[in-house]
Amino acid sequence: MSAIDDVKQKTDIAEVIGQYAALKKAGRNLTALCPFHSEKHPSFFVYPEQQSWHCFGACNTGGDVFAFVMKKEGLDFSEALHLLARRAGITLPSRVAREEGKEEKEKFYLVNETAAVYFQNLLLNSPAAARARAYVEKRGFSARTVADFQLGFSPDSWESLKNYLQEKGQDEKTALAAGLLVAAENGRTYDRFRGKLMFPIRDVRGRVAGFGARVLDDSLPKYVNSPQSPVFDKSGTLYGIDRAAAEIRKQDRAIIMEGYMDVITAHQNGVTNAVASMGTAITETQVNMLKKLTRHLVLAMDADAAGEEAMLRTVGHENTLNSEIRVVVMPEGKDPDDIIRENIVAWQKLVDAAVPLLDFVFARTTPELDLTAAGGKSLAVERLLPVVSGVNDPVRQMHYLQKLAGLVRVDLNTIKASLSRLKPSPARRGISAKKPDRSVFPAFTGRLKDAREEYLLALLLNNPGLKTQGEDLSAYLENSENREIYFTWRDCDDPALLREKLDPAIHDHLEAILRRTLPAGRNDIQQRYEDCVMELEKRHLKNFEARRAEILAMEAASGGAGADVARLEQEGIEPSTRLRDLEARKGQKRKPAPAVRTRR
Ligand code: UTP
Ligand code: MN
Repeated sequence: MSAIDDVKQKTDIAEVIGQYAALKKAGRNLTALCPFHSEKHPSFFVYPEQQSWHCFGACNTGGDVFAFVMKKEGLDFSEALHLLARRAGITLPSRVAREEGKEEKEKFYLVNETAAVYFQNLLLNSPAAARARAYVEKRGFSARTVADFQLGFSPDSWESLKNYLQEKGQDEKTALAAGLLVAAENGRTYDRFRGKLMFPIRDVRGRVAGFGARVLDDSLPKYVNSPQSPVFDKSGTLYGIDRAAAEIRKQDRAIIMEGYMDVITAHQNGVTNAVASMGTAITETQVNMLKKLTRHLVLAMDADAAGEEAMLRTVGHENTLNSEIRVVVMPEGKDPDDIIRENIVAWQKLVDAAVPLLDFVFARTTPELDLTAAGGKSLAVERLLPVVSGVNDPVRQMHYLQKLAGLVRVDLNTIKASLSRLKPSPARRGISAKKPDRSVFPAFTGRLKDAREEYLLALLLNNPGLKTQGEDLSAYLENSENREIYFTWRDCDDPALLREKLDPAIHDHLEAILRRTLPAGRNDIQQRYEDCVMELEKRHLKNFEARRAEILAMEAASGGAGADVARLEQEGIEPSTRLRDLEARKGQKRKPAPAVRTRR
């Protein structure tokens, strides 16, 4: 549980507000004269079940307990949080603790760097590494390449790295957490990597995040990698990015391969804009890393079933890039390492002849079908139309609709009609291995409403393009920490500084949001953004309506003050019209809401 959740749990909103206003019971809720403005008839309500409050009078605002304390005491979020934490007797992570977090990561990089140097020295000098040196030579790597990529050798023993790290004063706990050491059941620790050729994996800033390790023969598994650690996440890493980044920017093109060997051979032969996804399908994180350097991606996965599958799964990333991805079509069974070593000119020709990803998808989908028969035609449409429907760019989409129509010899209007019948969600079947994704709003243990707010933030934070839309969404965020992140993000020009600007107590929450993986495949970000805002706006309006109705019923029962009831009834008209309008719009484009409050 995050510190903020802890504070919320140990704080009773009625108790806090009760110190500022004389709360009286009103059904399940509490009411008082509004502590923010002067009034004769209570229009201020506290909802203990939701731990929230709302003033239906002149303020026409509300929120959670943080929002109340901020407004009442004139504090910013961080100050209010600290005040309530003190009140609840909770210690929040401080700036000092955050520095420790940074130091913690530095420790990981340091222990990895120490290990890389150790492995490298052994490969270069140790008699025990003779076989490894012979293997490196057999693979055709030059001394320069071995040095550039800092290749190494891990000796075939249980404790040699462990002992070395100890000599160097490295902390065993860190080495364990970094995955360099493994703990046995009896608590003894030993080296993870033994008798292997070692590949340090560096991040874009050149820090060693983890290792890949290859056996020196044909035994299996061929590779072992560092496990996930605070500094290593395989799906968020690109092998070779430290050496390739500048070249990718310069050439305005990146080539994505599958493996360590492919990248090393490529660089040794002058193909210096190559990186590897390390055998997995390309993730959105990886695409976003590359997108900062270029929008032109060329896929050069192995010409086998796994490589093809990996390429087919990248279709959705074209929307993220807002650009076409190309595919190098390689001879059956070969990988870039094989081809480049055989003949660099042939490789260059293959790259120059790279085909647009969707053409590749078409080419891979149709050969097994009989396109002269009705059944074959409908299968082709069934498989390809969903892919085409996922293309955001209307011109490219039309191009492929025409291609599909021509392929099955059916007129374009029929294809277009099928397209409009197609539901967007199960679309990527056969292309993405992922099931239609409901994790968009995952079941969040009893906190679904926050999950949606957090999903919106995840979209915003991961897609800088959405910032320029400038719509004020703050009214839809009911959670103070989410509002805080939203406002800080909105006012912060450099996304890298966002974390810095936020109170450390909110960092866990920020990271949880940033870690939310936006399902690959459906990368129509704009549509997802609009759907999400619409859902949040609906929730906002529904909440308002429900609360208003509750008050009206209560007032009616007690024969309450007529003037206020009339005003409340009047005020309800606009939101409920808007809500009906939104409900009717399901699946259509959302128009931005009329006037939305901007308030911090
Ligand atoms: P490949 O099997 O194509 O290996 O896996 P490779 O790089 O061509 O190696 P050689 O040429 O056979 O020596 C591609 C990548 O997938 C990851 C590695 O990153 C590898 O480079 N992989 C593969 C693993 O992580 N574990 C494995 O067991 C196999
Ligand atoms: Mn290979």
